Amino acid sequence: MTQTEQFIKATEKLKTEHKIIRLALIILNTLRTQIEGGKKVDTENLEKLLEFFSIFADKCHHGKEENFLFPELEKAGIPKESGPIGVMLYEHQSGRHYLRTINESIKNYKSNQDISTLAKIAEAINEYTALLENHIYKENNILFAMADMHLPDEIQQKLSKEFDEFEVDEIGPQKHDEFHHMLHKMKDDLLGKSKVLDVRDIAPAQRHTLIFEEFNKLKPSESFILVNDHDPKPLYYQFQAEKEGEFDWEYICEGPVIWGVKITKKS
Ligand SMILES: [Fe+2]
Ligand SMILES: [Fe+2]
Repeated sequence: MTQTEQFIKATEKLKTEHKIIRLALIILNTLRTQIEGGKKVDTENLEKLLEFFSIFADKCHHGKEENFLFPELEKAGIPKESGPIGVMLYEHQSGRHYLRTINESIKNYKSNQDISTLAKIAEAINEYTALLENHIYKENNILFAMADMHLPDEIQQKLSKEFDEFEVDEIGPQKHDEFHHMLHKMKDDLLGKSKVLDVRDIAPAQRHTLIFEEFNKLKPSESFILVNDHDPKPLYYQFQAEKEGEFDWEYICEGPVIWGVKITKKS
């Protein structure tokens, strides 16, 4: 293998970060669903997630895109103003606005316990989630595909190195791994150690088959967390028809963008 074949492409590194950001959005929307269901507001975990989105997702991840990837794409002829880069930059700004709103609202809630503040937090989380999910979809499927077409391996390799250096300069050498650890621990604490089966990137026609395969692999009293982009009601009816009395179905995250259900095999 040559030296240029061994490195991880800059766009692949960003896609890997998108996965962890999407896991954080699942957890954030689980907490939002709890708020809407009248449960105790978990301000401690909400604040930890906000730190993750502000530092990991915005400062580091968006920082890598804005300071290194986008300028290389411009050099390769992809237009900034009135083009895809301009749209991405605008969306990064909108995300910062929502994060500020959520942050301020949590602070207000901690001091006044006002119920109307909770509605504001939930609304801003919904808007932030819709924005970020759509943004990540466009980057993964359009902008990064353009990048892979236009940027030669040497540039991808240079960017990859610049990303690593930028991250260490911005947050220090350990923080990236600490964020991963914090997020997985929070997932385990809030949702249990069950596997997260996110079918949103799988073709709709294949989703149900895959989900039933996963269910059949479960031992009694084991679960998985199904994540989908719509209310999986039709799947529930299929489970009722094919697995009646064999499963428990518990919504943990109720839309409008992300839906999560804990499906347990009864013992
Ligand atoms: Fe971005
Ligand atoms: Fe991104």
